[in-house]
Amino acid sequence: MNFKGKTALVTGASRGIGRAIAHQLAQQGCQRILLLARNRDRLCQVAAELHGWGAEGIVLAVDLADPIQVNVVIAQAWQQYGPVHLLVNCAGVAHQTPFLQANLPQVQAEISTNLVGLYTVTRLVGRRMAVRREGCIVNVSSLMGKVAAPTMATYSATKFAILGFTQALRSELAPYQVRVVALLPSLTDTDMVRGFDWFRWVQPVSPEQVAEALVTGLRQGRREILVGWQSHGAVWLQRIFPGLVEALVQQASPAVKATAPYPLGERASS
Ligand SMILES: NC(=O)c1ccc[n+]([C@@H]2O[C@H](COP(=O)([O-])OP(=O)(O)OC[C@H]3O[C@@H](n4cnc5c(N)ncnc54)[C@H](OP(=O)(O)O)[C@@H]3O)[C@@H](O)[C@H]2O)c1
Repeated sequence: MNFKGKTALVTGASRGIGRAIAHQLAQQGCQRILLLARNRDRLCQVAAELHGWGAEGIVLAVDLADPIQVNVVIAQAWQQYGPVHLLVNCAGVAHQTPFLQANLPQVQAEISTNLVGLYTVTRLVGRRMAVRREGCIVNVSSLMGKVAAPTMATYSATKFAILGFTQALRSELAPYQVRVVALLPSLTDTDMVRGFDWFRWVQPVSPEQVAEALVTGLRQGRREILVGWQSHGAVWLQRIFPGLVEALVQQASPAVKATAPYPLGERASS
């Protein structure tokens, strides 16, 4: 893929992996990068950083949980700044909680941002790309979209779903010359995981490593882009010895407290 002179839209661009991807795309020669997230100040900061590489950063401050606003913002941006050649759906949230102790608002936040938000943006941009018969969509899943882990049940569910969605969409949009790719970072050192109990034996990568892997994977025409040797090893082992991987993940996971998983007064059998 040639990035020179292209326009990209990156969601979750205010920090972490999305910000590193915006930086990397600017370094690769993208001319204009639309930066989408909720925090306007942070987005303005990222837009200023892009100037250093000669790219224009456009701030789209919007909450993905508000599909009407997202619709308006993307329609206006398309009209004002022209077609988007590359969409990177990177925005996401994760809550680390044993499922029996999870609360509904957290579950809903993960599903509405990671899945419904991603669908909303993809539908709006994908339709326009299909009309032009040109474009590439990258959906950010996770290694946890291949190997699920205790304390991350809802998050893993959303990331598995993104891989299924990506696979289906790849076939649907192929006749329109729109490419659809999944990016699967492993544990990455960002705000998302700062408060987490980390999994044993897992070496975190940097957001910059993830962004570099994305660009390399796109250039190589990959359909699923894994980041780092640990991810390749885990996915390979999972295919051959799924039971072994499940046992290893159990060992590596932060201890799941078996005490009082139910709210007071609620019986385990109810
Ligand atoms: N960190 C990891 O270990 C890891 C591993 C595998 C995959 N991933 C995936 O990589 C992606 C980026 O994660 P990260 O680690 O960079 O996380 P992060 O540092 O917490 O950044 C999350 C980004 O998503 C945006 N966002 C969250 N909710 C949003 C909403 N409702 N509307 C609009 N934007 C929203 C945030 O911006 P605002 O707060 O400004 O809205 C921020 O830019 C996620 O999809 C995550 O699942 C991360």
